[in-house]
Amino acid sequence: MKHLLGLNGVSKDEITQILADAFEMKKLLQKEKKKSDLLSGKSIITLFFENSTRTRLSFELASKYLGATAANIAASGSSVAKGETTIDTAKTIDHMAADVIVIRHSSSGAPHMLTNYTDAAIVNAGDGMHEHPTQALLDLMTMEEKKGSLVGLKVAIVGDVKHSRVARSNIYGLHTMGAEVVLAGPSTLMPAEIEALGVKAYYDVEKAIEGADVVMGLRIQLERQKKGLFPTVREYHKYFGINKERMKLAKPDAILMHPGPVNRGVELSADIVDGEQSVICEQVTNGVCVRMAVLNLLAGNQPLVKID
Ligand code: CP
Repeated sequence: MKHLLGLNGVSKDEITQILADAFEMKKLLQKEKKKSDLLSGKSIITLFFENSTRTRLSFELASKYLGATAANIAASGSSVAKGETTIDTAKTIDHMAADVIVIRHSSSGAPHMLTNYTDAAIVNAGDGMHEHPTQALLDLMTMEEKKGSLVGLKVAIVGDVKHSRVARSNIYGLHTMGAEVVLAGPSTLMPAEIEALGVKAYYDVEKAIEGADVVMGLRIQLERQKKGLFPTVREYHKYFGINKERMKLAKPDAILMHPGPVNRGVELSADIVDGEQSVICEQVTNGVCVRMAVLNLLAGNQPLVKID
């Protein structure tokens, strides 16, 4: 694997490998001295054209835990703000001997485009409404950790599917690994063609959650929406918000997930965000592990790392 641009087309073997490495990397995170030299001598640049807390910080920490030289650049503090193009920015970074460039961009396809202009490995950290592959990988890791296996799991993904790169990457990854995906959301936030991806789409959140092993809320992406897709956030929560009562329709041992950041009281009621079924904090930790595994592979190292 030279780049990680999405999970569409990534094989079961490749996902299995990344998850195995991520579980190995977790051992490093649990040590008092979180340091390895697996990426010693490598340079990793994160280039963020959109805001981020989890993804950006976890890539930076993952690089540093593995001994790489890591640097961050945000569009707002860079020459992009003076009119430099994305391609010229990437070429500039490339000429500083970057081994891996991690990019988040509001345009779907921006990471793919950059592969034509740089020798560095490109990691898509979220492109427009297209894909967010490392988010889905950390979600798969969390499901496997909590449920033992991904095969046969029923995963209900609820909310703003239309604008969600997280939903798309999860659909691809979960199908590849043998899980079933059902979706729920308002008709205005559900792409018309989505069932062509092999999922069942409901406009009734309760039908989707019934019997689920995993319930995943999606953030309402107000920044990508044209006005008028639902009347008010209060009404959205009433009809599509995940709350304690609705969680009772899932299996008794079901887990609750959310990629973050959560709009408390909108996608999820505030009490269940911190409730017993929530694994949102574990998702954050596993995000560091998955990004360590991905960076290790793309920087040219061997898979199946062993952390002593
Ligand atoms: N889940 C996710 O991508 O979060 P950030 O926007 O904080 O990176």
